[in-house]
Amino acid sequence: MDGLGIDIGGSGIKGAPVDLSRGELTAERHRVPTPHQAMPKAVAKVVGEVAAHFSWDGPIGCTFPAVVKDGFTCTAANVDESWIGTDARTLLAKATGLRVTIVNDADAAGIAEMGYGAGRDRAGVVVMITLGTGLGSAVFLDGKLVPNSELGHLEIDGNDAETKASDRARQEEDLSWGKWAKRLSVYLQRLDALLWPDLIILGGGVSKKSSKFLPLLDVRCEVVPARLLNNAGIVGAALAARDAPLRP
Ligand code: BGC
Repeated sequence: MDGLGIDIGGSGIKGAPVDLSRGELTAERHRVPTPHQAMPKAVAKVVGEVAAHFSWDGPIGCTFPAVVKDGFTCTAANVDESWIGTDARTLLAKATGLRVTIVNDADAAGIAEMGYGAGRDRAGVVVMITLGTGLGSAVFLDGKLVPNSELGHLEIDGNDAETKASDRARQEEDLSWGKWAKRLSVYLQRLDALLWPDLIILGGGVSKKSSKFLPLLDVRCEVVPARLLNNAGIVGAALAARDAPLRP
């Protein structure tokens, strides 16, 4: 069975059909740049275009880089503030004419890794951290997601951890891999002290370069790179849509 996943990000909105038995894309991804002012209506229009590109008529799953509760987007750390309190599920359903499931982007990436990647068959407490513009988190207990954990915003030395340890911070401050790994270690040590996870999976675009920073990390817990890389959001969104409870 296939599902359609659409990953709504700060720079691009990407979608593809996914073979849900293998967690693999069955067609090339379709990517449209995120509208400059990424307001809800403009983003919904692009999501509609991406679904139409695949002539999709089944349910779809979408990711969003903020807290998502019962289809409503609730926070806006890296997106336009007009998303706070938006009924995104209804908005996207209207724009696509389809049944929509919408989940936090890091939760989607984690769902994909637990299903088909680095977290497959891993019991206990598994934490996925996505390293990108923001610092996203997804927490699983015996494979079951605790949604919207938002651990990227832990306060460390008076700072929002995201502003120091995200990949954006690395790029904007032109940090060496060593300097960034030190900051990431401080962050992961805090996470470890609070949750004592059995496994931490590091995702986001920079996880492709994990050989540059993973060996430099100093953390008690086992830390591994994500396996699905660029497609984790799309795959996780499609999986979330398949598993979403049917609503009237
Ligand atoms: C947001 C999270 C999101 C993460 C990654 C954070 O700033 O608060 O909801 O998952 O960025 O995009």
